[in-house]
Amino acid sequence: MHVIEIKQMSKKFKNYRDKSNTLKERLLKIRKNDSKEHWVLQNINLTISKGECVALIGRNGSGKSTLLKLMTKILYPNKGEVIVKGRVSSLLELGAGFHPDFTGRENIYMNASVLGLLKREIDERMEAIIKFSELKEYIDQPVRIYSSGMYMRLAFSIAISIQPDVMLIDEVLAVGDAAFQNKCINKIEELKTKGTTIVIVAHNGGIIEKLCDRAIWLSDGEIMDDGNPRMVNMKYMQALSERENARLLEEEAELAQLEKNNRIEYPSTKASELSPRVGNRKVEITAVKLMDDRKVCRKDFRTGTSMSILIEYKVNEAFEEVSFGIGFFTSENICCYATNTKIDRFTIKELGSRGVISCEFSELSLLPGTYMLDVAVLHPNKNEPYDYLSKQFNFQVSSDVKDEGIARLKHHWAVEVIS
Ligand SMILES: Nc1ncnc2c1ncn2[C@@H]1O[C@H](COP(=O)(O)OP(=O)(O)O)[C@@H](O)[C@H]1O
Ligand SMILES: [Mg+2]
Repeated sequence: MHVIEIKQMSKKFKNYRDKSNTLKERLLKIRKNDSKEHWVLQNINLTISKGECVALIGRNGSGKSTLLKLMTKILYPNKGEVIVKGRVSSLLELGAGFHPDFTGRENIYMNASVLGLLKREIDERMEAIIKFSELKEYIDQPVRIYSSGMYMRLAFSIAISIQPDVMLIDEVLAVGDAAFQNKCINKIEELKTKGTTIVIVAHNGGIIEKLCDRAIWLSDGEIMDDGNPRMVNMKYMQALSERENARLLEEEAELAQLEKNNRIEYPSTKASELSPRVGNRKVEITAVKLMDDRKVCRKDFRTGTSMSILIEYKVNEAFEEVSFGIGFFTSENICCYATNTKIDRFTIKELGSRGVISCEFSELSLLPGTYMLDVAVLHPNKNEPYDYLSKQFNFQVSSDVKDEGIARLKHHWAVEVIS
């Protein structure tokens, strides 16, 4: 039996590109039709049977969340049909559907009744919902003081309490701690055995393969592949790294061009304030790659995950001593962090003629934003770069947590009531 059926479905959004500032500008613009339409899903045909657990994978912006919203009926298609049978429970954007000034308990009443439970049914399930959420005393606090992890716990606990026929889960599990994530995964497995149909957006290959019977890969609003989770995920990963390699090759070609155009100067002041690339190239940087913990080259990372910077080098001439350095800058050119092997007392005994030096940040603390990278190989004691590439590489950081600033500092809250 098909629980979800999508037929020749397309969805478009309007992009309002022009952000007019004054009222006059805005009023004048209304007359002109300056909004561009953008198809975010194109001719999707898809059926999902009862009890299937399907992973949705694909890059940011490929249309995964939009597809889930169409299945939830928060959005409607412009063409074709989306049919979903039975009671649907969905975990989409975090905190959506919660009223910030109401307590967790009050939000349970509101949410569960929206999902179709009667007051009596909610009362019966209240303790189980609170217990699963592990929110304890926080349950009677307004949810505006909740962390995103706590929001997720509450939302997940409510979503499973209605015993849904169809459960739709966007990328929200990742904000929970590892223990709660595991608990959710066990719960999802339990729902599966009870015949619930599940569609989950996932990035973690382990979860995809452990939990799902099937994976669907979306790319720019189209289905690229649909089938065995391991195979589909492998193809997706392969495409990601090919795309990244193509981009790196392009970047290398640009660098080569830059090299031709730029006379190589010997810097007397801070290298980063000078040209994008300086140095005598006794030791030369031939490529710079950013990788995640699965050794996939990428330009987008999430706060708290692992990022390794790989610097490929070539030795052209005899040199004295050597130190490799890196620095992160915001788009406003504020240095967030910079270090080098000398500062870190990491000794390099030998470089050979070619090689790779890597620096791993096991938990990237940078908050969401675009960052630029300085990469250098220098004489450790003289202000003498062999090769200094300034702001030639950039990467994005994203996160579901809404803390602000440049970096996440480790912290711990406590409360002590005096009277
Ligand atoms: N409400 C909206 N209005 C306009 N464009 C949107 C809206 N929601 C999503 N989009 C666009 O649709 C595309 C797909 O987005 P989304 O479904 O969120 O992707 P994913 O979840 O795969 O990252 C993106 O280009 C995004 O900018
Ligand atoms: Mg999304």
